[in-house]
Amino acid sequence: MKTVGILGTGRMGVRLAEAFAKAGARVLLGSRDPRRAERIVEGLNVPGITPASYQQAAQADLVLPAMFLRDGMIETLQPYRTHLAGKIVIDISNPFNADYTDFILPWDTSGAEELQRHFPEWRIVGAFKNVWWEVFDAPTFDGTVTDVFVVGDDNAAKQDFLTIVQPMPFRFVDAGRLANARVIERMTLLSGELGQRYGYFPRMNYRFVGEPWTPGSADRYSHLITPAMGGGPR
Ligand SMILES: NC(=O)c1ccc[n+]([C@@H]2O[C@H](COP(=O)([O-])OP(=O)(O)OC[C@H]3O[C@@H](n4cnc5c(N)ncnc54)[C@H](OP(=O)(O)O)[C@@H]3O)[C@@H](O)[C@H]2O)c1
Repeated sequence: MKTVGILGTGRMGVRLAEAFAKAGARVLLGSRDPRRAERIVEGLNVPGITPASYQQAAQADLVLPAMFLRDGMIETLQPYRTHLAGKIVIDISNPFNADYTDFILPWDTSGAEELQRHFPEWRIVGAFKNVWWEVFDAPTFDGTVTDVFVVGDDNAAKQDFLTIVQPMPFRFVDAGRLANARVIERMTLLSGELGQRYGYFPRMNYRFVGEPWTPGSADRYSHLITPAMGGGPR
């Protein structure tokens, strides 16, 4: 059985502790104040979660920092740099500013890439970035299971992560390379804005839809668009 160490006992840390424990992992829920972790674990009353310090949580097989970049996440994680080398680190960060109106990072990077840049020896898998905290208790909307977009450049790490989270009540979508976190994180910025506009916030999520398609089948435009008209490879 794998252990998952969570650093931070805020909205996401607590929900993810419960989600990983219910998926069958052993969870170390770490706080800067281990007494806070004790109180939360007692209140959750979910088997498989142990209160911890950050130091203790960082001993787990997989480590998940559940804190904000704007609150000094990179600096807080520095002491664990060598300890986490070669380990899977699950990055859930969205680089929100203090009033959640925008990001503190420019468009050509992401929280996931910044973490990887500072800690190149960590095996970073980006996940849960698109899932707002109030979605964890009921991730299904009108019977539709919603998505968690998963990004990473280390395919073996991504596969190990996908095996562990498989029992969770989400559909996990391989969303490609780590740099795609730029898009996923900004999709969260957008869903937050849309959720507020339409009165859903914070109960909304994404589901990517599609169906198998064969080129040329039932394409009612194919006789109209010839290569001479600028068709070509599609
Ligand atoms: N909220 C969401 O819906 C959501 C969705 C997707 C991704 N995320 C990402 O998940 C991460 C955590 O978000 P959250 O909403 O769970 O945050 P939160 O409720 O504010 O909790 C953050 C936790 O970080 C820890 N922490 C460590 N250093 C801190 C500092 N200097 N100041 C304040 N807290 C500090 C604290 O835990 P201890 O006191 O126990 O150490 C705190 O409870 C962020 O990167 C966010 O972008 C959030």
